Amino acid sequence: MKYFIGNWKMFGVPKSINILNKINLFVSKDLNRSKYQVIITPPYTLIQNYAKYFKKKKISIGSQNCYQKDQFSSNTAAISSYMIKSVGAKYTLIGHSDNRAEGDNETILRDKVRFALKNNLKVVFCIGENKKEKREKKTLSVLKKQLVNVLNKKFNKRKIIVAYEPIWSIGTGELPTVSELKKTTSHIKKILKIIFNQKSPPVLYGGSVDESNIEMFKEIGEIDGFLIGGASKSYKKFIDIIRNYYR
Ligand code: PGA
Repeated sequence: MKYFIGNWKMFGVPKSINILNKINLFVSKDLNRSKYQVIITPPYTLIQNYAKYFKKKKISIGSQNCYQKDQFSSNTAAISSYMIKSVGAKYTLIGHSDNRAEGDNETILRDKVRFALKNNLKVVFCIGENKKEKREKKTLSVLKKQLVNVLNKKFNKRKIIVAYEPIWSIGTGELPTVSELKKTTSHIKKILKIIFNQKSPPVLYGGSVDESNIEMFKEIGEIDGFLIGGASKSYKKFIDIIRNYYR
């Protein structure tokens, strides 16, 4: 099963549901539809509406983040996994580099993952090195640290997806090479197998994926799907990504 996850970031108002309607229509008619799963993570303001509307359709809804406490707390503007689950979301991203940059450290991320799983959300855990770490050839060690310091074998591996997003590739149009990606993805899976006792959760790629460069990922069988930012705001681009991937 491959995953095509659209991360809307700070984008969308109620009428943006039209974008998802078009994607849903495409998926329901697509002959390849049993091979993949589409998940969209709109901002918090739209989750309840969208999750209700798409409940019996082809798109699952997730959140872009969650707070590191269980149900309710006195933290102003915080939203917990419990609250996200209660409005119908099935997934949450955790550890996106935007949120790491705003202060999400590994202790916080561990709590986020723990409480998300406890509240029955599937977790899309994001990792990735920055430009300096890549230049200094620290990519593999950085990724290892990000994985082992947050994930542990007590977590249900069937409820976890890992998304590899090199920070220098997010929103920049810069991509790793095919051989870099093969090497990095195998490394991530090797570490996940150690953490989770021989079975790795799916590993996705994210960072500047679009309808033209998706072709290059076809030859990287190790990659189990994509986390798509900018291109997920256009139904045409998002549909073309799926279409071109299976062409
Ligand atoms: P991008 O974003 O596709 O716009 O590079 C990916 C992400 O941040 O999840």
